[in-house]
Amino acid sequence: MSDSELLTSLQAKFIGRDTVYPTVDGGRSPRIYLDSAASTLMMGPAYEVGHEFLEHYASTHSDLHYAARGASQAFEWAHEKVLEFVDASPENYCSFFAGSGATAGFNRMAASLSRARPERDVVLVSEMEHHSNDLPHRHHTSQVVHVPCLGEFERYGALDMDKLQAIVDEYGDRINYIAVTGASNVSGAITPLADVARIVHAVGAYLLVDASQMIAHAPVSMDDADIDVLVFSGHKIYAPGSPGAVIAKNDLLNAIKPAELGGGMVDDVYIAEYMPTATLPDREEAGTPNIVGAITLGAVLNLLTRVGMDKVREKEIGLIDYAWQEMSKIDGVTLYGPDPGEIPRTGTMTFNIKGFDHGLTAAALNDYHNIQVRNGCFCAHPYVRELLKRELWEMDIDPDAPNAEADVERKRGMARASLGLYTTQADLEALVAAIRDLVERRDEIIELYEPIGSNGYRHRNFEPPAVDIFNPERLLENFLAEPVQTIAG
Ligand SMILES: Cc1ncc(COP(=O)(O)O)c(C=O)c1O
Repeated sequence: MSDSELLTSLQAKFIGRDTVYPTVDGGRSPRIYLDSAASTLMMGPAYEVGHEFLEHYASTHSDLHYAARGASQAFEWAHEKVLEFVDASPENYCSFFAGSGATAGFNRMAASLSRARPERDVVLVSEMEHHSNDLPHRHHTSQVVHVPCLGEFERYGALDMDKLQAIVDEYGDRINYIAVTGASNVSGAITPLADVARIVHAVGAYLLVDASQMIAHAPVSMDDADIDVLVFSGHKIYAPGSPGAVIAKNDLLNAIKPAELGGGMVDDVYIAEYMPTATLPDREEAGTPNIVGAITLGAVLNLLTRVGMDKVREKEIGLIDYAWQEMSKIDGVTLYGPDPGEIPRTGTMTFNIKGFDHGLTAAALNDYHNIQVRNGCFCAHPYVRELLKRELWEMDIDPDAPNAEADVERKRGMARASLGLYTTQADLEALVAAIRDLVERRDEIIELYEPIGSNGYRHRNFEPPAVDIFNPERLLENFLAEPVQTIAG
């Protein structure tokens, strides 16, 4: 199979892409999933690998029965696939799994790096960051300096390299590291990582990259960009249920103390003392790992490596350009973040429709058009406030007001359409048509919704049948109704 054939074949093999849901008009159709920035769908062939492993399931870290040997080898294979995918040579880098997403990795690295270099008391964090790559650094460091972005109002986004340079000049060797996203989860704006590395390395600071939103969309080379630490969530690259992945330079990992203690990371333990192992990644992986998730993730990365992330990126650029251009033409639609013609972006597009609160947009796209998008501030409140500043001022709302009232919450946010490998031109045509439909039927649709909670909306006359919403209890009832089976022997 050629690379292109593999890409085409994989696109058709995502679990749940065609799940059918009802719409307000009484119809039923396969959903259009445009919520990949929150979490992607599962890649079918990778799921099969994880599922097949269950036939051989055993825990890792033993060689003496066949299943444990297979598990240990496959778990090691998953580590290798991570390194390969981010182009990190094993002589210089090590990968380890942590928690259920990137958040665990940031907390771990923030704690470890601040303990390792207490004399460097400043950490730089960009203003675009997800809270997961901001708050852990605030918690573990005495001073976080936020680095501004380029542009203003709706076009705010992409790290301002001149301002970064000025901040690095000001704080110099007090800087421990910079934590910056590879791509924003709000605007998709991509960071020039090799340039950031050059600037911060000049004062001996590390570069820690949040690759959560970049990993499934653009190639990354840790070797070439000289990235010290990179963190991503497996569930954002087609392996829901897999762990977070951390890739770091061996020198750096050897210099820090393990942040988590437990089984599997010690050579020996006495009542009076214990000896953490020097072996990586074991030292960073205390406890029984999420082996199935790691193997599933390894399988995804292996397949995508075969496709080539440059091909994935190329395909996505065409879709981004189409969606951006078509959405820009719709009267009353505001798109956020830098223009993709000026700053490279991933397929994450945030927008608002005049007259619609962000929650109403998401609800109406779902109920009328079976298009699933996310809405809100996407755990990037400071960045979203900047993007919305002008509009909120015009509404007489102070975007920085603490303890915002419910009304402010309804206005303060956007809808977000985010692409995955399975997204087609037809999906985006449907999105554009759906937005046009909402604009045309604005008054009618607004009338038909009632607000619920702080930013939700519910249709007054339409409730999906319970059977259409996933419910684990219902599946268990099916099992409980089956005749009893016994194990022979
Ligand atoms: C840019 C970015 N960083 C970090 C995270 C946190 O990832 P997780 O929730 O998987 O730990 C997210 C999740 O949305 C994200 O988009």
